[in-house]
This record gives sequence, structure tokens and C-alpha cells, in this order.
Amino acid sequence: MHLYGTQTINEQGHLTIGGTDSVELANTYGTPLYVYDIQLFRDRARAFQQTFEEAGIGYQVAYASKAFSTIAIYQVAAEESLSLDVVSAGELYTAIKAGYPVEKIHFHGNNKSLEELQMAFEAGIGCIVVDNFHEIDLLKKLSEQLKRPMNILLRVTPGIEAHTHDYITTGQEDSKFGFDLKNGQADKAFQQTYDHGYLKLMGLHCHIGSQIFDTAAFQLASEKLLQKMAAWKEETGYTCPVLNLGGGFGIRYTEEDQPLEPAVYVKQMIETVKQTSEASGYPIPEIWIEPGRSLIGDAGTTLYTIGSMKEVPGTRKYAAVDGGMSDNIRPALYGAKYSSLLANKANAVLDETYTIAGKCCESGDKLIEEAKLPAAEPGDILSVFCTGAYGYSMASNYNRIARPAVVFAENGNHQLVVKRETNEDLIKQDLSYSQQALKK
Ligand SMILES: Cc1ncc(COP(=O)(O)O)c(C=O)c1O
Repeated sequence: MHLYGTQTINEQGHLTIGGTDSVELANTYGTPLYVYDIQLFRDRARAFQQTFEEAGIGYQVAYASKAFSTIAIYQVAAEESLSLDVVSAGELYTAIKAGYPVEKIHFHGNNKSLEELQMAFEAGIGCIVVDNFHEIDLLKKLSEQLKRPMNILLRVTPGIEAHTHDYITTGQEDSKFGFDLKNGQADKAFQQTYDHGYLKLMGLHCHIGSQIFDTAAFQLASEKLLQKMAAWKEETGYTCPVLNLGGGFGIRYTEEDQPLEPAVYVKQMIETVKQTSEASGYPIPEIWIEPGRSLIGDAGTTLYTIGSMKEVPGTRKYAAVDGGMSDNIRPALYGAKYSSLLANKANAVLDETYTIAGKCCESGDKLIEEAKLPAAEPGDILSVFCTGAYGYSMASNYNRIARPAVVFAENGNHQLVVKRETNEDLIKQDLSYSQQALKK
């Protein structure tokens, strides 16, 4: 059995998270419940930052908050001196409400609206990661109208697709994101921006994939981007001070996953950037990264209560929980795998195998195909690990199921940071319909 971060098993045989008893948390706040081990988040942030500090290189570690966006986690991220990636007006609004230092906010997205860009200018955020030519036009108009400067990075697709242990290189990438590096789009975007009066081109950005378990693809990406920046310097004399290599560092969802320590990814990146800079005579740029999952993924655990159970003789045993694809879409969406534990019987022998079914009206609503557990019964508390990234943030009200509460646990204390939705919340935006009221 693998425990994450501060997790332990206490004398009652209960799983603890952040020094708190998860069964007590389930009793106090109800289930399903997302519980976050905040110390783990802090430790990861510090590990990434420390590696850059030790190498003596300029850097920013930005929390890719699409993984989990709430006021409370933004407050912790700010305490840890992280920068912050947002991808929508909603995430930006949440960050502003959380009092995030605006100069540390980076705005991403492949179709930012004029209103979103305006909001970014008005807030005075640190940087916009520009994705396409339409956005360049909008930004030029806005900055000239408002007479306000804005730092920008150009997002490029370097023709590298990385997943887990493999990556493929493609001449041209079929992606909705960014300017293609190979076919001249990136050059054109550079020409259109580098000498603009208000837009300050800081450098290039790429994000090559997710759940990446080795360093080779990051090394290749840094080489390609840096060589492009060096070529532009040759042509125009313009030096971009920043290289942003995105996120995608893998985590351990199940025993099949063997991620590297954050420091290993970062050390290799730094090494490659230094070598490539030296070879091309380019000043070593600041390196920015944007981890999401590797900061928050294994910090999150979802607690469920087991309800109905069903045996299909000779085939499988189902144990159904009080949540499912409405609080974690990843298994149904792309077959994501998770590991689990009975939080109230954490020391018991794992002598049964269950399929963990959700409660949504979809046959595909299964959280885990084969969970090794002790003999389970209705009322047991099931903890599903590593649900901290893309769980709450992708949750829905499918079947009009209310979204769970979120609790932070740290140093033996726990605190509610997102309230459980109520049935009343579910109909809050609904309006009645009557034929008489139709406007003519
Ligand atoms: C541009 C960008 N940066 C960072 C991330 C974070 O990736 P991960 O959570 O895998 O670290 C993503 C994820 O989709 C992304 O699109």
C-alpha cells in the first residue's frame, strides 16, 4: 500500500491526512469529500523552487490552477511565492478575490475574449501567454487604446508530443494551441510583436503534454525553443529573456506510474538550457515552469461512503459510492486509473476485489475497475487517492448531483474551504417558464 505526503494509519486503523483522522472528517463534513494535504502542496512547491535556487538561475514556478482553482488554494500558492496560471475570466476573478499578487499572474488560453483581455489589462497582471494571430490583433488594439504595457510570451507548438515515457516528434503539430514552430507561424508572430510599443515580448512558451515520466522531451523542447530565440537574436538583435517550458510532470496514481522527483526534471532542464545557450552564444534565459498535477494531484484524496453492493456471480463484485463521474470525470473520460483504501479499515487484509461504481446514470460511471480492498460493507469510507488535480475543477452537476465540499488538512487541523452544494444551489440559476410570459 502506498500512502502519500503526510498520510498515516492511526491506532484505530484509520487513514489520516494532514494529521487528521479521515473517518472523522467524513463524519464531520459528510461525503463525498475532497480532502487536501496542504503540507504536500507546500513541499512540492518548495522542491521545485529550491532546485532553481541552488542552480542560481532566474525562474518562476507558476501553479497551473486549472488543476484545482479555489480562493483557498490561491492563498496557499501566494504564501508559497508561486506564480499563478489562469485560463479564464473565472480563474482570474477567483485569483483577484483571493488577493493574489497580480504581477505574478499569467493568463493562458486559445480563445481569450476581448473582455477577458481587458480584465487582464485592468488588473495589471504579470503576463499574457499569446496563443494566436487573432489575439495579437486584440492585444495591439487594447494596449494602444488603453496606452498600457503588457508582458507577453508566445505559445508555440514545437512538434513534440510527450506522454508518460514516450514522446513523438512531428514536423507540424495538429494542435488547437499556439503558433507552429516549423511552418513559419512562430516567426510571423515574433515579427508582429517584438518591436511593438506596448507589448513587451518576454519569450517563448510550450506545453508538451501531461503525466510525463522522463526528461528527454523537455530537453528537446528547450533546445528547439532556445535555438529559435537565438535565431531571432541573430536576425534582429532582440533578446527574449524568458523560456517557459510548461507543466506535465507526472505523478503516481497507481503502482504502474513511476514519476521522477521534481528536482530531477528541473535539473535536466537547467542543464540543457545552459548547454544550448552556451552553444548558441545566447544569454541564459529565466526558466519558467507551470506544474499543475505535480503540485496538487496527490495532495488530494476523495472520501466516499460505500452504499449498495452487487455481485455478478463469476464476473465481479460492485461496490457503489455516493459520488462518481460528477466529482471525478477522469476515469470515464479517458480511462484514468486510481488507487484506493478503506479509510476505516486501513490495516485490514486486502482479500477482495471490487469494481468501484459511481452513482450517476451511466454504465461507464466506474471510478476503479479492480480495487483491491478488504471485505467491504455499506457505510465503509472509501478513500480514492490522487484526486487533487482535475477532480473538483472538472466536477459537474450531472444528474443534478450537488458538488462535494473541500477541506484542507494541515498540522492536525482541518478547515472547510469550499462548502458542499445544496439542492437549493442547484436550482439557483433556474427560472420558471410560462407561455403567458413569452415576449411578443
Ligand atoms: C499550458 C499548460 N500549462 C500547464 C499545464 C499543467 O499541466 P499538468 O497539470 O500536467 O502539470 C497545462 C495542462 O493542461 C497546460 O495546458
